[in-house]
Amino acid sequence: MLTLNNIEVIYNDVILVLKGMSMQVAEGQIVALLGSNGAGKTTTLKAVSGLLKPEDGAVTDGSIEFLGERIDTRDAADIVRRGIFQVMEGRRVFPHLTVEENLVAGVHAARPAPGRA
Ligand SMILES: Nc1ncnc2c1ncn2[C@@H]1O[C@H](COP(=O)(O)OP(=O)(O)O)[C@@H](O)[C@H]1O
Ligand SMILES: [Mg+2]
Repeated sequence: MLTLNNIEVIYNDVILVLKGMSMQVAEGQIVALLGSNGAGKTTTLKAVSGLLKPEDGAVTDGSIEFLGERIDTRDAADIVRRGIFQVMEGRRVFPHLTVEENLVAGVHAARPAPGRA
């Protein structure tokens, strides 16, 4: 379902953070990425969800595919519409909204599906 092929990520044109990173997630599978602080776990997720750009980072080699389609060349808004959501660390919810309102805000970008409240 999700494949990272040998990706390389560089921040600010010079800071090489990931090199030769590959992983696969099959449909229905849960994959945990383990590593020490600064190992590149968050960077890997941001590469998948397209969130490197605002931090001046980029996937400079390799490719990322979701459902057989290349997504590392797409921007975050496009990727989220394809169904990949990154839950950011640090509880980044809207504190002034209720739990339900936060959930509604979270599905705002998704296409309406039959039966989705
Ligand atoms: N926006 C950024 N600009 C430059 N370097 C960064 C940036 N974000 C993370 N890094 C560096 O990339 C490396 C991996 O960080 P990160 O992906 O946050 O690791 P983890 O989530 O595994 O703790 C660290 O050396 C970190 O300092
Ligand atoms: Mg992290």
